[in-house]
Amino acid sequence: MNPLIAPSVLAANFANLQSEIEMLNASQADWIHFDVMDGVFVPNISFGFPILEAVNKYAQKVLDVHLMIREPERYIETFKKSGADSITVHYEACTHLHRTIQQIKDTGCKAGVALNPHTPVYLLEDIISEVDLVLIMSVNPGFGGQKFIENTYRKIENLKSLINDRQASALIQIDGGVNQSNALALLQKGADVLVAGNFVFSSPDPIQTISDLKQLSF
Ligand code: DX5
Ligand code: ZN
Repeated sequence: MNPLIAPSVLAANFANLQSEIEMLNASQADWIHFDVMDGVFVPNISFGFPILEAVNKYAQKVLDVHLMIREPERYIETFKKSGADSITVHYEACTHLHRTIQQIKDTGCKAGVALNPHTPVYLLEDIISEVDLVLIMSVNPGFGGQKFIENTYRKIENLKSLINDRQASALIQIDGGVNQSNALALLQKGADVLVAGNFVFSSPDPIQTISDLKQLSF
């Protein structure tokens, strides 16, 4: 089986966003990963609705929105209207996660939950059957280009067994520091979706880099 590949536009050239999206359309990318940061939940501010609308105007791929924001429930409908196909919220940012997941599904979007590096997988026991996706942060959220955290492998194993135990169907997505030296091992542990920002956009040939990731089979 081949992985789903989700390049992160956080690492794209924003001054040429249209051509970056057209490059992704022409590539074997499956999803386009869109990182929203509020400067409160994470120590950085990225972009929001107008940029998502601009991306949506050109994108022919699934728009995978990763909300690194507090109180995400306030903005779910607007992200859907701006073009999101899938919305992932952080476990650490939601007081009523079950309600927020339901709210995302009610819009027709796929619903995901993200875990920071310090948040254990077992906390998902009572929500795993409700979500379409679990995003494991393999760096601390807030910035692209950081070093991959090795404990991620163990978290994937734990999550895979939780999913199997509950006969759940959530996909496992890995986000942060993904590159050619860890991608295959991540897939072998059970990852389904690889996010890659700098590894794709800083490479000399992003289309080839995406294809190389896509060809990994496990
Ligand atoms: C980090 C973001 C990531 C980031 C990944 O907070 O959630 O999606 O764009 O970038 P790289 O692949 O460069 O670590
Ligand atoms: Zn992300």
